[in-house]
Amino acid sequence: MSSALATDPQADELLHRLLATAEGQQDPYPLYRALRTAAPVHRSGLDGVWYATGFAAARRVLLHPNFGKTPRLTIRRHGVSEERVRMVERRPLRPSMITANPPEHSRLRGAAKGAFLPAQIEALRSRIAMLVDERLDRLAAAGTADVMAELAYPLPLTVIGELLDVPEQDREDFRSLAVATLVGDDPDPAPEALSRSEAASIQLGDYVSDLVAARRTRPGNDVLSLLIEHHDDGGLDNAELVATVILLLAAGFFTTTNLIGNGLLALLHHPAEMKRLWADPTLVGSAVEEMLRYDTPVQLTTRHVLADVDVDGTHFRQGENVVVLLGAANRDPACFPEPDRFDVARPDNGHLSFAWGSHFCLGARLARLEAQLVFSGLLQRFTRLELTGEPVRRPGLALRGLESLRLRMTSR
Ligand code: HEM
Repeated sequence: MSSALATDPQADELLHRLLATAEGQQDPYPLYRALRTAAPVHRSGLDGVWYATGFAAARRVLLHPNFGKTPRLTIRRHGVSEERVRMVERRPLRPSMITANPPEHSRLRGAAKGAFLPAQIEALRSRIAMLVDERLDRLAAAGTADVMAELAYPLPLTVIGELLDVPEQDREDFRSLAVATLVGDDPDPAPEALSRSEAASIQLGDYVSDLVAARRTRPGNDVLSLLIEHHDDGGLDNAELVATVILLLAAGFFTTTNLIGNGLLALLHHPAEMKRLWADPTLVGSAVEEMLRYDTPVQLTTRHVLADVDVDGTHFRQGENVVVLLGAANRDPACFPEPDRFDVARPDNGHLSFAWGSHFCLGARLARLEAQLVFSGLLQRFTRLELTGEPVRRPGLALRGLESLRLRMTSR
């Protein structure tokens, strides 16, 4: 890829619309398509950051050891004031696996890995199925409801809360703090949201430190106790322990919440596919993969060039930053035939929604299990799902999801 193509002003205009306008947040997919057509890897003339929209390039960047993490947010927002960028960069850093490079990355991931092995996740199946049933009972009794509030938010929060044994009465507070911190990850956060995000991050740190202190006095079989053991054996320092707990709690619920919401919305917008899934429950596994591909909850991640490297003819220099647009790569026609078609039986669906390589989502198996149980439960319980109002989208591009989704549900 030549650098002349990479500084194409038309592509920069598309990037601006994607990252800094409501248009990008509402429906980024036409903009992704136009950007990918201009260049599957584009270097912005405005900020010098690379943007990968093509599947092959995105996957190579995620896999290649010369691309790593930098703890600071690397997206230089187009048209956003320097003051706002400095506000983002001032946010307190939490040293967890998601911002670490080797060898720290393996040590930090290793501390939590044991809790996410296939057998561990499979052992949660019956409890999660029971939680799904309880939620569906309430939805069936109500007949109409906001499924974000009644199912998509509370279910994953309960699952991760139980995994870490966070007291039930604290989970709601935890939820609002975690959501407030996430706003700071958006490409163009409002200054007030950033201040709230900073304050929430400090409160969360205090809350988790207290939780750790309390758990020390009565250790159990939960993931928090496992992490405390790693700390006591010298595998994690105090800041890393707190950061890992926050990461698991936050990554563990909000993303899955949005998978349930985005997946349901995709089905509602494609009634023939909903009918197909309802007629053949064995499609639930491939349907969840298609929901992940079609409208992924995590639209982007960032990488830092650790050493000069050539990828498919593009030269990346040490110190440069790359934004990998996962949601764009998932719609690349070179990899997914008819990529804008939602197909619950799509074969060979190797999407990038859980990223790839060393930072591949630690909770992917858990997220898949939760979503599969939710969609199997919905199709067993209800014959018909209908929208009763306009779905409300939460602001932001990086974490894509709904604030509310009101449905009428007809029971069998
Ligand atoms: C649909 C649900 C989910 C999606 C779409 C998702 C997506 C992702 C993505 C894209 C990454 C890679 C980030 C990067 O490369 O910078 C990631 C990492 C991670 N995810 Fe998830 N995630 C989901 C659910 C979960 C759950 C349920 C948990 C935990 C209970 C979890 C825990 C993590 C952790 C710990 C990492 C960091 C891994 C590392 O850096 O080595 N995720 N996730």
